[in-house]
Amino acid sequence: MYPVWEVPYLSAGIVLGLIATFHILPSHLSTSAMWFNVYVESKAYRENRPELLEFIKNYSLLLLVFAYVFGSLSGIGIWYAATVANPRGISALIHTYVWGWATEWVFFIVEVTGIFIYYYTLGKVDRKTHLKIGWIFAIGSWTTMVIIVGILAFMVSPGKLPATGNFFDGFFNQTYWSQLLLRTTLMFAVAAVYAIAVATRLKNVEVRGFIKKAAAKWGIGGLILGTLLAFWYLKTLPEEAHGLINTFVPGRLKSGMIITVGLMILYFIYTYLKPLTIRFVPAILAIAILFAGIWSAERVREIIRKPYIIPQYMYSNQIIGHDISAKGVVAEVKRLNEVGILKVAPFVPRNLREIDEGNRLYAGRVAALIQCSACHVFEERGLRPMPLMVKKVGLKEVEGAESFLDGIGEYPHMPPFFGTPEEKKALATYLVSLADGSKLK
Ligand code: HEC
Repeated sequence: MYPVWEVPYLSAGIVLGLIATFHILPSHLSTSAMWFNVYVESKAYRENRPELLEFIKNYSLLLLVFAYVFGSLSGIGIWYAATVANPRGISALIHTYVWGWATEWVFFIVEVTGIFIYYYTLGKVDRKTHLKIGWIFAIGSWTTMVIIVGILAFMVSPGKLPATGNFFDGFFNQTYWSQLLLRTTLMFAVAAVYAIAVATRLKNVEVRGFIKKAAAKWGIGGLILGTLLAFWYLKTLPEEAHGLINTFVPGRLKSGMIITVGLMILYFIYTYLKPLTIRFVPAILAIAILFAGIWSAERVREIIRKPYIIPQYMYSNQIIGHDISAKGVVAEVKRLNEVGILKVAPFVPRNLREIDEGNRLYAGRVAALIQCSACHVFEERGLRPMPLMVKKVGLKEVEGAESFLDGIGEYPHMPPFFGTPEEKKALATYLVSLADGSKLK
């Protein structure tokens, strides 16, 4: 166990979520933009329309700067944030999938060098060679998606890995193919929305119109296919996830996704019909709308794996809930209940390891930080604020709070309480203090 990273109002998970959502735009652009580029470039050569290369130049520059500078920075940001927000979760993933990531990074190097070669050799090498560079890039970058989706899908549905410990049993789990195809189709919509924005800045009016119309078609196709595949993806989700979608995913997140898809389809249709009327600002607004939709989808993905960070393995609060015998991992539940979480966790102040009248409230706060702060903040406002939650269930007495903790594992979205009866009393005391406002600062 590691120290807890408490982020007021937001929680560490939301910080990670914000970085990850931002990362989706450049990462999906990086896997998709080159497909659109090679399409336009082939057309330019086949139909002898060299003016189309103006678009290629601008779009590749966007790819280079936005996807490969900001994309790489935010990608590293995810690693940093995950390492402090949920060190044991990321450690479990690395122990399982280090070779997956190593393979992904081989293709990542193809991409990162490929974009520089592609951009700087345009017009300087012969057409055939340049197109070949484009194809190598397009396939190499999509391969990074083929690999990373296995690891992402594993976090929602670990497949047979918990039973067998086998890399591929977890990788090709029940949501792998549906998620891969879903992301593949949606990435074309991401490519399209950026291509339209780039096209608004082109000098040649004819090229501007052509690119916007072509991109609009890619966008409509990607979104419609993506919507169909989303239904398939929903079908492949584990049963528990369906329960959580029906009961716990807030309506605003569901409508956030549906409205985004609707608005984006309308935007693409409008762009197709009247390509020249779409200017720079609306094109940027469309990207912002897409971002909001992705945020809703990511929040839903986060909710449906509660109470776990890796289902059937580790809870969101980093406590290992189940044996993974094939990998020699032992559940910690028994030990924490017998010895005590404040005794086992290494980063607990020494004076809180034994609880007495004087330190009970503070020990309770530390127990709450370890066990509850993955999903709740302790301020009055923010992510599922604990003072509000406590008032909602009417915890006014310590005994009442203790029996709430006894039954907390019955909620489909919360882990059980871990610790000794003494620790339960301390946590209950702290919860009650939140309700009456005498909370520790
Ligand atoms: C894996 C995430 C997660 C963890 C860890 C977690 N909770 Fe929750 N908790 C939730 C969710 C999700 C809700 C539902 C929020 C809502 O209804 O808006 C919730 C709701 C609650 C409620 C209100 C219950 C109700 O019936 O409305 C209380 C009280 C609560 N949590 C206390 C705790 C305590 C105490 C801990 C730590 C021992 C804890 N939670 C740990 C996710 C979590």
